[in-house]
Amino acid sequence: MSDTIDRARSLISGASHLVVLTGAGISAESGIPTFRGADGFWRVGSKNYHPQQMATYRAFCAMPEEIWKWYLYRLDLCKNAKPNAGHRAIVKLEKSFERAGKQFHLVTQNVDGLHLEAGSDPATTYQVHGNIHFIRCAKECSPDIHPLAKQNAGVPLCPQCGGFARPHVLWFDEMYDEKNYKYETVLTLSQKLDVLLIVGTTLQTSLPALLVSAAIKRGVPVIDINPEPAGLDGDRVIQISGKAAEILPEILEG
Ligand code: OAD
Repeated sequence: MSDTIDRARSLISGASHLVVLTGAGISAESGIPTFRGADGFWRVGSKNYHPQQMATYRAFCAMPEEIWKWYLYRLDLCKNAKPNAGHRAIVKLEKSFERAGKQFHLVTQNVDGLHLEAGSDPATTYQVHGNIHFIRCAKECSPDIHPLAKQNAGVPLCPQCGGFARPHVLWFDEMYDEKNYKYETVLTLSQKLDVLLIVGTTLQTSLPALLVSAAIKRGVPVIDINPEPAGLDGDRVIQISGKAAEILPEILEG
């Protein structure tokens, strides 16, 4: 194990363009359940609807109050969570790359906002599934994104047209785009990075999976930190079995 950690540390410090890709696992130790774990969001939900059916634009149009009830519950979990040692180690890593004049980008699937709260630079942090603390007009009266003001129940309204607002998140029946989810930016990164560090994801969604497969295809070193690594195939894949909040500080600060 210490050999693997040493190899990962030396690859990361030798990178000139590092991309870090995170998933729900990095926030697990902040108390936010992962998606596909035993307490996953998709398995909690309201009494009447299967959660997978709820995270769609179609379901939102049919039952906006029900959908918002569920998102307000999730938002409450996120608001009560604090960044952990894993989030903080990534901030330190970003700063060390910045000091060395090297490229660093963070791609996160998490909508909890904890990377930004920990201090990751919003200019180089791409929240490819959105951020639950924000809303936008459900009818797209404008492309603007607004912070969600305190709301305990009901459907938040668009501050511009007064119609229904939606959470600023990507739903299962929607496509990635550049404006809201940095689709093209991430595809471009996939051709430029020279080391990819993956933390806490099952890689079930298409853009993160593309980022990883492009890196493996290009022969770029890929480091995967996860108590149950995804079993990625590739000569230059290093799998480190363990929790993000323990392994990340060890690799990055050790
Ligand atoms: P998943 O719930 O699919 O996977 C979480 C991963 O984190 C699993 O591989 C766990 O083994 C790992 N894990 C658990 N605890 C960990 C810890 N302490 N440290 C490190 N890893 C740990 O979550 P994601 O892969 O993020 O999309 O899910 C991706 C997307 O699927 C979500 O963003 C969401 C969902 O559909 C949208 O909402 C569009």
